[in-house]
Amino acid sequence: MLEIKPELSAAYPLNIARARSIEGWMSDVELLYLAFQAYQAKDILEIGSWCGRSTRALVDNTQGHVVAVDTWAASGDEWQKEFWSASMILESDWQFKYFTENMSDVQDKLEVYRGLSTHAAMNYAALQRQFDFIFIDASHDYKNVVLDINAWKPLVRPGGVLAGHDYDPKRWPDVVRAVNELLPEASNVVDHIWAIRIKGDENGNGSDSNTISDGL
Ligand SMILES: C[S@@+](CC[C@H](N)C(=O)[O-])C[C@H]1O[C@@H](n2cnc3c(N)ncnc32)[C@H](O)[C@@H]1O
Repeated sequence: MLEIKPELSAAYPLNIARARSIEGWMSDVELLYLAFQAYQAKDILEIGSWCGRSTRALVDNTQGHVVAVDTWAASGDEWQKEFWSASMILESDWQFKYFTENMSDVQDKLEVYRGLSTHAAMNYAALQRQFDFIFIDASHDYKNVVLDINAWKPLVRPGGVLAGHDYDPKRWPDVVRAVNELLPEASNVVDHIWAIRIKGDENGNGSDSNTISDGL
């Protein structure tokens, strides 16, 4: 596993202060990983933004553009209830409102796609959009992780990185199983983030490599 050393923040102007102020599950080292990827990328897409913790780490550290894909539909999943408060539950559509508030000062760098991950992937593929960095943190069951990897991998620009959250065999065995089966060369880069650099031949057909020479 790659280590994020304290010198990283000093060597690069990475900013995770706003991201850290937003509820979510990403650790500091994971936010730094996203920040560092964003620092090097122009076209970024994230699937699963929730309140925007990971989104802010991306937006605040890129000179480019971030697409945030999410349904922002309260699903009732146990993992979401950890952060629910009575006032939030009473307010309809609170997740999307809270996300929008958290992004109010970075609208110029953000494109919001509200809808299902697989629909978004079909639409962006039809538009021939490609991305330098795609980060998957949506549904964590086996079927949906497989759907997400298969839908989004072709949209990573050759040389770009496909990554995802919750590579955690104890809490999310389905994520680990799907990643190991579909992307056996992926690495567990920091904490619970997996990643793979997508290589491409001259015709744009991707082949995978686990060489993540990010210096993290
Ligand atoms: C674990 S949360 C994302 C957390 C976020 N990355 C953070 O840093 O706090 C998962 C999010 O994925 C969204 N989601 C789950 N399945 C989805 C799907 N199939 N399409 C779009 N969004 C989905 C949920 O609405 C939820 O907001």
